[in-house]
Formats: sequence, structure tokens, C-alpha cells
Amino acid sequence: MVKVLAILYDGGRHAQEQPLLLGTTENALGLRPYCEKHGIELVVTSDKEGPNSEFAKHIVDADVLITTPFHPGYLTREYIEKAKNLKVAITAGVGSDHVDLNAANEKKITVAEVTGSNVVSVAEHVVMTILLLVRNYGPAHEQIVSGGWEVAAVAKAAWDLEGKVVGTLGAGRIGYRVLQRLKPFDCKELLYYDYAELPGDAAQQVGARRVEDLKEFLGQCDVVTLNCPLHEGTKGIINKETLSYFKKGAWLVNTARGALCVEQDVADALNSGQLAGYGGDVWYPQPAPANHPWRKALNPFSGGGNGMTPHYSGTTLDAQKRYADGAIKILDNWRNGKPQTPSDLIVENGEYATKAYGQRK
Ligand code: NAI
Repeated sequence: MVKVLAILYDGGRHAQEQPLLLGTTENALGLRPYCEKHGIELVVTSDKEGPNSEFAKHIVDADVLITTPFHPGYLTREYIEKAKNLKVAITAGVGSDHVDLNAANEKKITVAEVTGSNVVSVAEHVVMTILLLVRNYGPAHEQIVSGGWEVAAVAKAAWDLEGKVVGTLGAGRIGYRVLQRLKPFDCKELLYYDYAELPGDAAQQVGARRVEDLKEFLGQCDVVTLNCPLHEGTKGIINKETLSYFKKGAWLVNTARGALCVEQDVADALNSGQLAGYGGDVWYPQPAPANHPWRKALNPFSGGGNGMTPHYSGTTLDAQKRYADGAIKILDNWRNGKPQTPSDLIVENGEYATKAYGQRK
């Protein structure tokens, strides 16, 4: 009998109130009826940390692991060594950096994700976060809920997005959609830094210019948005040194992965005023510890500039339906020996698919 292990976040009463919360342990991506119908053993849990967790216990004989980037079951080399039956690791969402891909390749474990499932959801969140930082929305809203009213205190750090230079590091599915959505804001310039050039006239359509040198790219932007995958070449790409290339008082938005940034370096840049604001929804590890420096870091001039949320940009209710259906499709393909959609594949048969390196397809 096939055994599927799903590591998901708990929904509690919210999952009862909102049955469309498919990414929760309660609603389990719609896997329960599918597994019942096909005689599959299904274990669903949120308990993922430490040697006594349900994850550690059940990974030992699971054939399939399904998890989401929002509450990732970190499939480390150690777990892969223990996972004697594991054949497929499915990411219900986009971004499979929670898997040790080299170790998965050694064991010929297939890693696949639901490519494109939440890219619009994230792009919208990026634009929202850029606006709330540039407009200094956080402290302004805070004044209102705390009973205050001091326009000057918030207006002194509030700007228009029009006339600013915005750049995306990574111009794939999300990065390009961000550029598309920013076009009507009449920014001074839209830039992108990506080791792949946008195809055809895609750059022209959004009016974006490619900058090939990272230092030059960062130095020209008023706003930088990170939209590249986390891999060996991008881990810690935003650090003390690269932050020094930013314009003083620039804004940084990261909805890609927490570990793209060196956490204390970003907090220091915000506290020192080198960054006017930092926003996004991704952390390492997740859930983020209560004392994570990004929870409290503020720009001293504006008394704000913190646009952080828990990881939810790519888990809107619309996105949950898409990645739940997509995860079941990947499982179904595997069970029936059907080929996976090529763009969903990260690794297969001991080899990296191009997507693992973040190539645009
Ligand atoms: P994609 O594969 O379509 O695009 C990634 C782009 O990054 C590609 O154009 C690639 O060439 C570029 N890239 C890779 N390495 C680079 C490097 N070293 N320097 C410059 N560019 C580089 O991926 P997509 O769908 O746009 O997603 C991007 C990332 O966003 C995912 O890998 C994931 O980590 C994150 N994400 C976050 C979500 C959230 O809920 N916050 C949801 C979905 C994705």
C-alpha cells in the first residue's frame, strides 16, 4: 500500500470557518477523498520539528512526501537517508529549497512543484508591499489604531512610487508579473537583473531594462524586489556588502525566500537607515522564531519601514485551490506512471531539471 505523508499547517477553527483553506491539516489539500478512493494510506500532520516529531516518525516508510513552502517539512539529507521508501517529494506551491536536492538525486527521489500556481498571488503582494513601504503606510495606520493623529510624523517619510526606479532581482514568472503590474505607475525606470534575458519583446512590453552587473543594478534602484529562487548561488545574496551598494534610503521587498538575505545584515541596514524599509513574507526557518530580528527592526527616521507578514502571499484562497489540485495531479501522474509536466520537475532520475537552477521556461 502506498503511504503519503503530508506536512501542512494547522487551520484550527479557521479551517472549519473557511473550507477553502485547503493547505491546512484539516482540509489536507483535498487529499483525503483521493487517497480513500485509491486505497492510499494518508498521514497528515503539522508536527515537523525534532527527532520525536510525526514527520521524523513517518518519513521512515512514506512513499510520497507532500508539503508546502508555508510550513515546510525540511527534507534534509539526514531525513532522506532514513526515508527508505521515499520516491517523490511534492511541493504544493512553488520553491523546493526545503529539500536537499543533492541528497534527493543520490537516492533518485523525484522532486516536483506546482509551477505557476501562485505567481500572480505573490506579484500582487509585492506591489502591495512596495506601495505600503514607499507611502509609509505602516506607521500611519498604527497612529490611527492607537488613537493618534500626527500627519507630519508620517508624511516626512511618505513618497510617490511614480518617478522612482524599481528593479527586480529575478525576472521569471513572478518578477515579470511584478514588472507588468508596475508599468502603469509611471516609474522613472523598471530594471531587472537575471542571468537569463527576457525572451522576445517581453522587456519592451513592460518597458524594462536589463542590468547585468549586480552592483550596478542595486546602486540604481530606489526599490529592489527579490524574485529569484533560493539555491547555492543566491543564498545570502543580500548581505552587508551588497546592502552597501544600495542607494541610501532604498526599500527592499523579499517575497522569494528568507535565506536570500543575511537576516542580521538586513535588520542592521534598516536600523541604521541604509534601508528605508524592508517588507515581505518569507523567513528562515519557518515558522519564524518569536525573537527573529525582522519582527522588530524599524527605520528610526520614519519609526516604521517594516512591511513583514507571516508567509502567506502565495497562499491566497485562489492559490490554494491551484496548488492543491496541482499536487494531486503530480501524485496521480506518479501513481499511474505518467510523465510529469516538465516545468513542474525540479529533479528526476538523479538529475537536475533546468528549473532547479531557476531557468525561465
Ligand atoms: P521562475 O523560475 O519562473 O523565475 C525565477 C527567475 O530567477 C528566473 O528568471 C531565473 O533565471 C532567475 N534567477 C535564478 N537565479 C538567479 C541569480 N543567481 N541571479 C539572477 N536571477 C536568477 O520562478 P518564480 O515562479 O518566479 O518564483 C521565484 C521564487 O519565488 C521561487 O523560487 C520561490 O522561492 C518564491 N516564491 C514565493 C512564494 C511566496 O508565497 N512568498 C510563492 C511562490 C514562489
